[in-house]
Amino acid sequence: MSEATQRSAPRAQHADAFAACVWEGLSRPRKSLPCRFFYDAKGSALFEEITQQPEYYPTKTEVAILHAHAEQIVDGAPDEAVLVEFGSGSSIKTELLLQRARRLYAYAPIDISQSALRDATIRLSTRFPGLKIRPTLADFSHPIELPPDLAGRPKLGFFPGSTIGNFSPADATELLRAMRGTLSPDGRLIIGVDLKKDVRRLIQAYDDANGVTAQFNLNLLVRINRELGGTFDLQTFRHAAIYEPREGRIEMHLVSLIDQDVWVKGRKFRFRAGETIHTENAYKYTIEEFSNIARSAGWTPLRVWTDDERLFSVHELVAA
Ligand code: AVI
Repeated sequence: MSEATQRSAPRAQHADAFAACVWEGLSRPRKSLPCRFFYDAKGSALFEEITQQPEYYPTKTEVAILHAHAEQIVDGAPDEAVLVEFGSGSSIKTELLLQRARRLYAYAPIDISQSALRDATIRLSTRFPGLKIRPTLADFSHPIELPPDLAGRPKLGFFPGSTIGNFSPADATELLRAMRGTLSPDGRLIIGVDLKKDVRRLIQAYDDANGVTAQFNLNLLVRINRELGGTFDLQTFRHAAIYEPREGRIEMHLVSLIDQDVWVKGRKFRFRAGETIHTENAYKYTIEEFSNIARSAGWTPLRVWTDDERLFSVHELVAA
């Protein structure tokens, strides 16, 4: 195998895995695609833009809660603890905790993006010159082996953003259990969870007037066209956000406006007018509902911080 072929092999494997997921999702009686595929470079930039939209309250509200209570939030962790962030991305919210947590041993960000880890490490080592930073390139949904010098130290996990809401309650339980494994034996977890509220407010947050969320959703089809030679005509699909009260979740869909056939990597998929591709779930919880999920994953809920309107919550969990 030539060097060039070797280098392109992971990319080809990645495209094959993506194609297999897309084929599988579009072959279902109710078509669906996993929301993790939103986040190519364009999708990640659009998500950042969503967080700036007036209707998208979760990010601003969570930042305000962290800002107001950071001192208390970190005071539960013992001295010389390691702050472990799951899916750290740009680590912006982490700064609010790092500013208050004076006696940390190290900051250990975990992410699947090498570039996000590198950029965050460079930025934070300038902002916090004495801080040891121990990045791990990994998928946080499985228990993770942290760098060896962190073994045996107390851990304070951090999982902001209400990303937990993008998992089904069963998968969220599994994820919380895996996090407990990573933070064991006597870990603590600070986690952001979006709350149930007025349905109109919820729907507007996922269907902003500037159409950024619509673009974010439709970008999945752009990505399939580019990476898998798909033939989606973007003019013939529209974004939809609905609230499903029985499940307690926002659902995002892409609705076909016409009867049509679409090709993806040599396979044809038929759409009827009005048929949808279900692209994302965002579960909303009451504080009690989320605490019960945490308990079933072996955590003991302690304190909860919210905003005045009770839009969003930040929970402190300790390993039971
Ligand atoms: C990343 N995640 C928590 C966002 C959410 O609110 O569920 C993703 C998102 N989808 C549409 N807007 C934002």
